[in-house]
Amino acid sequence: MSKKLNILITAGPTQEPLDPVRYLTNASSGKMGYALAHAAITLGHRVTLVSGPVSLKPPNKAKFIPVQTALQMRTQVMRHFAKQDVVMMVAAVADYRPKHFSKQKIKKTRSSFTLKLVRNPDILKEICSKKRKNQIIVGFAAETEKFLQNAKQKLHSKKCDWIILNDVSQKGIGFNSDKNKITLLNQKGVFLHLGPSAKKNLASIILQKIIRSC
Ligand code: PMT
Repeated sequence: MSKKLNILITAGPTQEPLDPVRYLTNASSGKMGYALAHAAITLGHRVTLVSGPVSLKPPNKAKFIPVQTALQMRTQVMRHFAKQDVVMMVAAVADYRPKHFSKQKIKKTRSSFTLKLVRNPDILKEICSKKRKNQIIVGFAAETEKFLQNAKQKLHSKKCDWIILNDVSQKGIGFNSDKNKITLLNQKGVFLHLGPSAKKNLASIILQKIIRSC
């Protein structure tokens, strides 16, 4: 390895609390993000892992920062962003959170009720707008349709260096699976299709391709 890099990886879901016992979340298991963290450490890099709640053990050598909500994830990413060479936003960050948090458990007295949600900050977009010339920022796109079109739109609107597109519409790949099928895109276009293959294998290929561009 030529250069020891600082790599920040976000992983897992965020949980957006509604009351003391309930929250909104998604199906991310953290497997893809943790596989990247392990692979980066194996390659000799310094890893900061900002993780939503998952049941995986973080790599011993990673600086591990557990968070619950998108706002907490944003705080930690922004706190550590300046000293990173590479940031990989693998976490499935909730786009919305409940507008009000009820301090008491919400009782089921009403037959229905409307839940008001507000937008969470787009962490990826924010760091891309603040990035230094020599920082590499990688977003992940979880899509169920119009795969390349949506991934290209995210790459350009968020202005990241790379987008890694996953098809999350199929069982056995994507969310909460040991395998994934991905497409790497950068500002020049589609770079590489990989998989279906174990997330562990994909992680080291992704890192090697991206680090080569550092
Ligand atoms: O955890 P696993 O079970 O292994 O599954 C892996 C995965 C499918 C979750 C992962 O590979 C993946 O695709 N992660 C991104 C999921 C996602 O939230 O995609 P998105 O298209 O909604 O978001 C695009 C990008 O913006 C992502 O890099 C996301 O981290 C980022 N984002 C999204 C919303 C937000 N408010 N802030 C963000 O930074």
